[in-house]
Amino acid sequence: MLRVSRLASSVIPSATLAAAARAKQLQAQGIKIHDFSLGEPDFPTPTPIRESALKAIEGGKTKYTPASGTMDLRNAVANLYKGMGLGVAPDEVLISNGAKHSLHNAMAATLDPGDEVLIPTPYWVSYSDLVSMTGAVPVLLPTSLDEGFRLPAARLASAVTARTRMVLLNSPSNPTGAVYGRAELESIAKVVLDHDLSVISDEIYERLVYDGSESTCFATLYPDLPKRTITISGVSKTYSMTGWRIGWAVGPKPIIAAMGNIQSQETSCPSSVSQAAAVTAITMDQTCVEEMRKEFQARRDHVVARLNRMPGLRCPVPGGAFYAFFDVQGALGREIAGRKIATDQDFCDGALNEGHVCLVPGSAFGAPGHARLSFAAGLKELDLGLDALEAWLRS
Ligand SMILES: Cc1ncc(COP(=O)(O)O)c(C=O)c1O
Repeated sequence: MLRVSRLASSVIPSATLAAAARAKQLQAQGIKIHDFSLGEPDFPTPTPIRESALKAIEGGKTKYTPASGTMDLRNAVANLYKGMGLGVAPDEVLISNGAKHSLHNAMAATLDPGDEVLIPTPYWVSYSDLVSMTGAVPVLLPTSLDEGFRLPAARLASAVTARTRMVLLNSPSNPTGAVYGRAELESIAKVVLDHDLSVISDEIYERLVYDGSESTCFATLYPDLPKRTITISGVSKTYSMTGWRIGWAVGPKPIIAAMGNIQSQETSCPSSVSQAAAVTAITMDQTCVEEMRKEFQARRDHVVARLNRMPGLRCPVPGGAFYAFFDVQGALGREIAGRKIATDQDFCDGALNEGHVCLVPGSAFGAPGHARLSFAAGLKELDLGLDALEAWLRS
């Protein structure tokens, strides 16, 4: 008799995907929904990348590649990090099926049951499930809107126990868009070094930063960090390539080899065609990345200004990524369009069912009382959605 395992029973589906699925259900009933739930750039994948994929298909690059990725792509990624001041050899790079798979491999290769992993919140929905799937224990460390959703190093230090093995960093952050400054990361690095910890630094939004600020590659901060850090990134967000499923991990050779062994048993290798396309993405002229970044910045400014004019909402300005993460507590306790709004979940249920705007509740990111709006949509659609949200809020 088939039965669902304890592991599978403990995994909850991604809240972001659940919100998007509910929006699709309503759409199927003929209701126009403004869906701002998904973290997916709306731009088409740039032309040179698409063309190189077609060339790869025509050129016969349609077979298994080495399990850890093609040498071309591992070299291209290594060169990318050399440009950031991190000496990386190709065998210190593992290519996987998206950054989420890189994260899974990194955790599966380095965590044992009972290990504690410190995760600042609000945090990306998948982190705690990915940690739990290894038998390790996610330890959530809340931050607030008023501290810019960035964890002070002293609070990190005070959470360290004898079982703490790892810190999970994500700057720029999903869901808050918070970008840690260099000095803040240096303070965090000192805690890591003082307590002999390791780090997974998820830098997937590194190229999407605004107002001239810079994203810092954590492993570059001190000479002792590369041997205890796994850096995660990929092409999904930077090049609007979410469906191509290419991410990578950069870390010490023995760890990358262990991750590669796991991957070879799980998936054999990432897609050959997507890897060829990813080489083009990384090495081509990067003007289109800058164009997309500028467009995201214009949308961010517009969306944040509008949200802050709505009753009961408070939205900080995100320094990176493409999410507005706002406080909805001023709207709680009210009745809106016949629905009693007591929690962020009620807020998002009302916004969706009565307002026809799909958001993700902050509680899904460990931050009740908030909501996330993805501004990875055109300005016109954003405006229509914000009109609908405002009309619902004022009803
Ligand atoms: C913080 C963060 N890390 C990793 C990922 C996963 O990226 P990929 O689509 O390459 O698996 C996402 C996607 O939403 C993300 O927001």
